[in-house]
Amino acid sequence: MSPSFQIAHISDPHISRQYYREHMKSFKLLLRAVVDEGVDHIIVSGDIISTGHEDDFYLAREIFSNLNLLDSKRLTVVPGNHDIFGGPHRAVDVLSFPQYIRSVDYKYRKELFQSAFAETYHGVCHISTSDLFPFVKIVGPFNIIGLNSIPSWSLRRNPLGTNGSLDDQQIESLEHMGTSGVLEDRTNIVVLHHHFNDLLQSDYQAGNIWTRIESNTMRMKKRRKLIRIFQSLNIRYVLHGHIHRNEIYERNGILFANGAGAVCDDPVRYLKYNLLQQNDGYCTIRIRQLPIPYQISTLTMALHRRHIPLSIPEFAMKPLDS
Ligand SMILES: [Fe+2]
Repeated sequence: MSPSFQIAHISDPHISRQYYREHMKSFKLLLRAVVDEGVDHIIVSGDIISTGHEDDFYLAREIFSNLNLLDSKRLTVVPGNHDIFGGPHRAVDVLSFPQYIRSVDYKYRKELFQSAFAETYHGVCHISTSDLFPFVKIVGPFNIIGLNSIPSWSLRRNPLGTNGSLDDQQIESLEHMGTSGVLEDRTNIVVLHHHFNDLLQSDYQAGNIWTRIESNTMRMKKRRKLIRIFQSLNIRYVLHGHIHRNEIYERNGILFANGAGAVCDDPVRYLKYNLLQQNDGYCTIRIRQLPIPYQISTLTMALHRRHIPLSIPEFAMKPLDS
């Protein structure tokens, strides 16, 4: 019997010194809980910080470092749109942000992200000689393929920085990966920031204009083509964030898990993470919810820390070699 291996997937903590201070507290608490659970590896699929500012990257580094997580064996991260472009945080920013985003130096911000979490990329396999992404990292029985789904700003294709796509170089590298032999003998996971589903019908019915704008500016481009490539690479799981909720859904035999409701679901009630577990060749993925209310005092935190997380829906998948 092979030993169990567990990966906790979290997304969109939106850490910031200036905004959403409660997210920082919640993220620290959630990370501490999954570390205490004894998970082997943690994946954070973007929007780690909310502003794209250097100071907030230092803050995120400090949070990971305090839990000894700044280590390639313990942590995998990919960028989200907020890590590169930031975003509007106050009502007044909604007017100024479309102008501000034009001045963002995409290349500089991407390099800032990569250097902020440089330790987590030690030992990864690069497919391209000119770019970190896509990379392949072996952790236990898994191959983790990290992708950058944040394209540069474009007035027509990415006016608010929130749309997703993979550049030609990443697509080419993915296509090459299938014949390179790097993905054999393990369960293959893709990690990227953007989603492959649509906003829920209920989101539309809520009917506010912002929801409709979001649905047109938060798309992952060429989803069908990418799913075909994922199928050819025998990808079993795609872990992502972006829409702030936790959910697991299936597309063409691949399980997609959104972890973006971890600390900033709307409305936020509980802290959550996705738990991917391989045990004796079988893989399961489920959403776990900590019995910790969102608005919490330090005393409540201390009391709840001892509780065992609740377990809600589980998706089982046969192992690769069966
Ligand atoms: Fe986000």
